[in-house]
Amino acid sequence: MTTRPPFTYRFEPGGRTGAPPLLLLHGTGGDENDLLHLGAMISPDSPLLSPRGRILENGMPRFFRRLAEGVFDEEDVRHRALELGEFIQDARGRYGIGSPLAVGYSNGANIAAALLLMRPRVLSGAILLRAMVPLTDPPAADLDGKPVLILSGRQDPIVPADNAAALASMLSTAGAKVDHRLLPVGHQLSQADITLARAWVAEAKHQATVS
Ligand code: MLT
Repeated sequence: MTTRPPFTYRFEPGGRTGAPPLLLLHGTGGDENDLLHLGAMISPDSPLLSPRGRILENGMPRFFRRLAEGVFDEEDVRHRALELGEFIQDARGRYGIGSPLAVGYSNGANIAAALLLMRPRVLSGAILLRAMVPLTDPPAADLDGKPVLILSGRQDPIVPADNAAALASMLSTAGAKVDHRLLPVGHQLSQADITLARAWVAEAKHQATVS
């Protein structure tokens, strides 16, 4: 049996307000510290679980291998999504948290989308910032009304608008409740991302308490 090195990660326990746990997934070249501030702005008081991607591309951490920009090693995507799913389940047991809402940026958004399709029960929903289709032929998943917010950039040089639209349609076909917005920005995050994500989480929390 080979023993894999554990994920490097940060965990912040959050406040006692019942805010949903967030799984923070950084972009290429980021690490476990990158999105902690963003997570706290999107959902103050949420427990934050933030792993570092275990692939290194020229020294830059990522969550799966790619063959070129926007061209993914899909076998690795599948394998890494399952591995991340196991990490989340272990962390849930360790910290006593519920299934998290993923907040992923770029490469982190892509692995979150793959995880939704490969292991639909692991996440309670997702905020996908500058995401693209992670798998051309995903398994049939039942996302059972899980809320997913996709924020794409109209001038994004990395994610073509039709690819983001294809992801939105793939996730809604699998049963997710998708809200896809196209912002007048590029690949970088903007203040609008934070404002929209924060309002969306507050609304999702409100829906969960009234339903
Ligand atoms: C990816 O490789 O996941 C996407 O091309 C986004 C990126 O990380 O640049």
